Amino acid sequence: MLAAYADAPNYDDPLAALKVGDHPDPVVPEGWVRIKMAAASLNWHDLWALRGMGSHWGRPERFPIVLGCDGAGRLDDGTPVIIYPIIGNPNWKGDETLDPDREVLSERYDGTLAEYTIVPARNVVPFPDDKLSYPAAALLGAAWITAYRMLFIKSDLKPGQSMLVQGAAGGVSTALIELGRAAGMEVWAAGRSEEKRALAKRLGAHHTIESGAKLPVQVDAVLDTVGEATWEHSIASVRTGGTIVTCGMSGGAVGKTDIPRIWIEQINIRGTFNGTLQELRDLVSFVVLHKLNPYVGSLFPLKRTEEALRKLADGKQLGKIVLEI
Ligand SMILES: NC(=O)c1ccc[n+]([C@@H]2O[C@H](COP(=O)([O-])OP(=O)(O)OC[C@H]3O[C@@H](n4cnc5c(N)ncnc54)[C@H](OP(=O)(O)O)[C@@H]3O)[C@@H](O)[C@H]2O)c1
Repeated sequence: MLAAYADAPNYDDPLAALKVGDHPDPVVPEGWVRIKMAAASLNWHDLWALRGMGSHWGRPERFPIVLGCDGAGRLDDGTPVIIYPIIGNPNWKGDETLDPDREVLSERYDGTLAEYTIVPARNVVPFPDDKLSYPAAALLGAAWITAYRMLFIKSDLKPGQSMLVQGAAGGVSTALIELGRAAGMEVWAAGRSEEKRALAKRLGAHHTIESGAKLPVQVDAVLDTVGEATWEHSIASVRTGGTIVTCGMSGGAVGKTDIPRIWIEQINIRGTFNGTLQELRDLVSFVVLHKLNPYVGSLFPLKRTEEALRKLADGKQLGKIVLEI
């Protein structure tokens, strides 16, 4: 089958580690299912896998590995499904994201950038493909579930309260804007260009500001996917007793923190990782119920994965990049 995979890690030149070509068909173990992939999106996780970062660090035996940690396709019986990317210890009970043995697809197990992929039978969530396209459904298992958990599980936000999304046009940011608007929040988005701020407005942001600009009023919660480049602004922009939720570092990993403001003003800082299987089911219901259209910024065929990954790495995309398979 055709697949996009990391041949061997290359920290300095991740795209040199990428191969797009023939790869052995997966063999389906007992208790697992096979999915004929229709679409999968690109995530920073794919670039980290190519670099050999995260759970690949110091483990050359994990290569070659098929990339991709989200996606949508059909089971062998034709059921349309969205893939839940976390595979953990089968004896683990409760929140899958807290399982110390958890692995995201494309870490230990082959991922979704392939004509076929396999996962444990519990790792698929059916969806109505007459209400949600496959490229849109593909976004729900990584960027959108992360945004869902940031907003509904971690932020403490209630309908009518205000939120600032750092980064107007990112994959997780665009999901936060669409979800926040549908959930009745007052949505602010900070973006680096007029084009990105215009996209945020189109997707539902009530107000946009230039990245780093002072807000007229502090917000109830800040949702930060950027990290270093926006961290100080996030701390300055949240109200006393408010919450900052962080999920990423597309703008750098080491942020300067105004520590007295954290304790004097009792700011909550919470980290988050993907979401639970139940949260993915709830997200699918939320998206269908509110007739949301998860924003797909650009579509590429699987064989053009290299070009698509370069676009992600260069920060040139608006919204998510989806590969059609
Ligand atoms: N914790 C989890 O489970 C989880 C899940 C998914 C993603 N993530 C992480 O979240 C981060 C974002 O992922 P993504 O898929 O949304 O990436 P993305 O689509 O590439 O978006 C990058 C975002 O970062 C912003 N940005 C980058 N550099 C910036 C700078 N110097 N100043 C201000 N804004 C900057 C961009 O803002 P503009 O729109 O203004 O360009 C954009 O919103 C990544 O680190 C990723 O690994 C974590």
